Amino acid sequence: MADAVYRLENAWEPVDGDPCGRFVFTLVNLSDAPLGGFKLAYTTLTRIKDAEEARCDNAVFLRRNANFHQFAPPQGLVLQPGESWRFTVAPLWRPAKHRTDGAKSAYLTLADGRHVDVSVDDVLLSGRAPEPAPVLMPKGEVTEPFHLLPWPSAATLVAGDAVPVALYPADGASLADRQAMQAVGALYRRLFEIGHQPFSLTPAHGGKAIRFSEEASLGAEAFRLTFGAEIELAHGGAAGRQYGLTALAQLLHGARKEPGTFAFPATGTIEDVPRYGWRGCHLDVSRQFYPTGDVTRLIDIMAWIRLNVFHWHLSDDEAWRLEIKAYPTLTTTGVLRGPDEPLLPQLGNGAEPVGGFYSQDEVRAIVAHASRFSVEVVPEIDIPGHSTAMLVALPDLVDGQEAPDSYRSVQGFPNNALNPAIEETYTVLGKVFDEMVELFPSKLIHIGGDEVAANTWMASPLARALMQKEGIEGTFGLQSYFMKRIQAMLAERGRRLAGWDEVSHGGGVDPEGTLLMAWQKPEVGVELARQGYDVVMTPGQAYYLDMVQDEAFQEPGASWAGTVPPKHSYTYEAVGAFPEDLKARMRGVQACIWTEHFLNRDYFNHLVFPRLGAVAEAAWTPAARKDWLRFAAIAPLLPQL
Ligand code: ACM
Repeated sequence: MADAVYRLENAWEPVDGDPCGRFVFTLVNLSDAPLGGFKLAYTTLTRIKDAEEARCDNAVFLRRNANFHQFAPPQGLVLQPGESWRFTVAPLWRPAKHRTDGAKSAYLTLADGRHVDVSVDDVLLSGRAPEPAPVLMPKGEVTEPFHLLPWPSAATLVAGDAVPVALYPADGASLADRQAMQAVGALYRRLFEIGHQPFSLTPAHGGKAIRFSEEASLGAEAFRLTFGAEIELAHGGAAGRQYGLTALAQLLHGARKEPGTFAFPATGTIEDVPRYGWRGCHLDVSRQFYPTGDVTRLIDIMAWIRLNVFHWHLSDDEAWRLEIKAYPTLTTTGVLRGPDEPLLPQLGNGAEPVGGFYSQDEVRAIVAHASRFSVEVVPEIDIPGHSTAMLVALPDLVDGQEAPDSYRSVQGFPNNALNPAIEETYTVLGKVFDEMVELFPSKLIHIGGDEVAANTWMASPLARALMQKEGIEGTFGLQSYFMKRIQAMLAERGRRLAGWDEVSHGGGVDPEGTLLMAWQKPEVGVELARQGYDVVMTPGQAYYLDMVQDEAFQEPGASWAGTVPPKHSYTYEAVGAFPEDLKARMRGVQACIWTEHFLNRDYFNHLVFPRLGAVAEAAWTPAARKDWLRFAAIAPLLPQL
């Protein structure tokens, strides 16, 4: 937006008697022509309350849809070149607590109907003394000089003076061993373009040989490295071999990058096995779109730190990103956000329509790439709530008799849930699942299930009729009816249901084989386990990587789940609250990357790293072997997106 000729300054200020305060906006006309007869739109997560209550000085509130807001200036206002228009916006749903809580984008609709971008930056906090930049990570300290992340479950290593030139396969290595070396070497090269390649497929003078062996007594993900004149890599399966090679590449990388801190082992042993089977990372590609190169890079980073489940959040209110051949409008109408589109600009969009989706060929390539690195891709389509994009793309799924704004989601989307009383809903979903099971080999399909608003469907005559016919009570009774049908549809296709914790509401589904993610708070996970569900712990308070890392206003991110410093993501013990008899139900832990605030790569990297590494170590390393200062020393070498 370097050439923007309009600028919107935004500040948040407290207001006596209203803890949510107000926004103060100033639009500056930097063009060389007068500006009149226009409307101003901006997007923000700090939303204005409903139109009837709007209190705006010097502006007319026109409309809002989720984060999209539109205003008109006072009648007849004309801004001459260099002049500005100041107005305030209240009441707000909550105060702005961090710099990313203001306007994320803005554009003007001019008198002739053209839309023009307006430059805008993070919100300023009016009237507060400047605060020092927070220190998010301590300097770090290693007690053993080895660069390994995650840290092994057991190791006795003696540091060597020399770093081998390269590691190469000993005589007798199989084709599969050599292919694994090539794969991990290529992974290393993608992640560290200037790094020194750790592996050579032919003997290298000054290098060391790796002697591979498969040991049935080791688990599929386990490995043992024995250092000496040669390196022995014993593994229980392809994943264990890959993890052993990754550990070797990390050891070499650290010793070369920071020779004063890290060394390569001369002798000793690493015996390693993951603490949890589910070591996940989720990515929301609906709020912001990530091209396939970004997705494969994130999977590469996951492979580097031995995460093994990529939870791909493919749909939400803001966009549906998965090509479905039976319903092409899902990825035309259902992705395009723009001033004149059915889906309005949100979360950083401006005058230009933006879209983006994954073709089925791209999905197949991503799944194959992940599988090469022992990463399972669990796809999510988020239903029945969070479905604005799907409903916009397939309007026949709406009950025409339902009042158009009869309920709103917590994100402010009106009537955003698929209707359980419309048979076509199941027909469409059946065809969607038919295509998904062809694309995704995972036994689990994640169907969301989160944040259906409390009074959803209550104004739908069709839903009311269904409730009466089936003796169903309330929104969550209907949700449970819907989820049970979805569970049966997945079972018919040989798949099991995964979802967010609210799937258990209103009667839930059959817990047998069902996996739910406890996100709202840790206690929810224990309760789900008690009800018989398998549980993955993703509490926002520790594992949501969009949460701010410090209370300082200048720190970017969301804060509804509190402040999540990297140390907390690292030291948090998700299993802590589980009684002994329920511990087996906890399958593992997962980081979630929700992208509302991730307007560019710098925000992504600032918020995701090193916390993703912290969750990876929490997922792999036994509690007694975790060491925050060691992690702080190793984490700066993590690759970023
Ligand atoms: C969620 O954060 N709504 C799962």
